[in-house]
Amino acid sequence: MNIFDSMKKLVSAKNPVIVFPEGMSDRILKATSRLKKEGIMQPILLGNEKEMKAFAAERGVDISDLTLIDPQTYPELDFLVEKFVERRKGKITAEEAREKLLSDVNYFGTMLVYTEKAAGMVSGAVHTTADTVRPALQIIKVKPCYTRISGVFILIKGDQIYVVADCAINIAPTAEELAEIAITTVNTAKAIELEPRVAMLSFSTKGSAHSEETEKMAKATELVRQQMPDLLIDGEIQFDAAFVPEIAARKAPNSPIAGNANVFIFPSLEAGNIGYKLIQRFGGYDAVGPILQGLNKPVCDLSRGCNEEEVYKLALFTAASGILGDGCIQE
Ligand SMILES: CC(C)(COP(=O)(O)OP(=O)(O)OC[C@H]1O[C@@H](n2cnc3c(N)ncnc32)[C@H](O)[C@@H]1OP(=O)(O)O)[C@@H](O)C(=O)NCCC(=O)NCCS
Repeated sequence: MNIFDSMKKLVSAKNPVIVFPEGMSDRILKATSRLKKEGIMQPILLGNEKEMKAFAAERGVDISDLTLIDPQTYPELDFLVEKFVERRKGKITAEEAREKLLSDVNYFGTMLVYTEKAAGMVSGAVHTTADTVRPALQIIKVKPCYTRISGVFILIKGDQIYVVADCAINIAPTAEELAEIAITTVNTAKAIELEPRVAMLSFSTKGSAHSEETEKMAKATELVRQQMPDLLIDGEIQFDAAFVPEIAARKAPNSPIAGNANVFIFPSLEAGNIGYKLIQRFGGYDAVGPILQGLNKPVCDLSRGCNEEEVYKLALFTAASGILGDGCIQE
């Protein structure tokens, strides 16, 4: 059974409610209609009911069995406002909270997740990452065992599976932050039953070059080792030495990952975001993500370049990550 089939089985058994704030995107409509028809999950679409129905009809998508919620007429809006204000602890007034919930579907969707009316949220087909993610950072917040969230991609081709991070959130992480990103990613890899072998990527292998950047990756590797002494990890290391056993034998002969890494941690968001897209487009891998790891509840951010199939798969992983957890207790 491939990873998608196992996820489908896992998620269908729970049939969770997942909110998709972008009810006026044809990719979202098509993917959610399939997810509902296949009995995998119960999608909620946000938007004006009449407009969504007309939009779907024009595109020949049947959304008659999906739940549609219009924030403007939502009967429990007062409850969401109250919970939003309470959660932000003095950072927002009731008036501002109401305004945000009525004007920004990502805030509304995030509050449905926070108040447990939905088990997770998938957005970002038409919104930027910052707009999709900020409500989750402010309201859902990071799990007590972490200090920050990060964005992981799962790259899949046949039975080859790789996990790469951070490709979505932290622009210029410090060594300490990179160590935490690596540990969170290891937990994500374990949740999908991958035995992690981690490469802390750089343009240098074991001191072949020296700069602030290479030393940062070497330090991050040490910090992870201190916290997870049994983990197979190496760094700083170049991608070829992490991925090709013959090159590892030459460049890093005693490497614990021996050119067989399956978890790759990038030194910056620039490297991570460019890197995953290269693997996806040049390598012909399915790229599922970014899955936001470290949040109390699952919220995932689509790439605006996504297609219907990518929405379908990310929704599956979002729901599955809520069921599987990552070994960390949520708030
Ligand atoms: C994610 C991002 C939007 C956060 O933006 P930000 O300006 O730091 O957000 P804010 O300052 O408004 O912070 C909002 C809250 O999130 C928290 N936060 C910010 N980054 C966080 C992180 N990585 N992990 C956990 N919490 C975080 C802040 O502490 C703050 O909490 P508070 O309001 O309760 O005090 C920003 O880091 C970003 O734009 N990253 C790049 C995204 C991107 O373009 N990716 C490429 C495409 S995939």
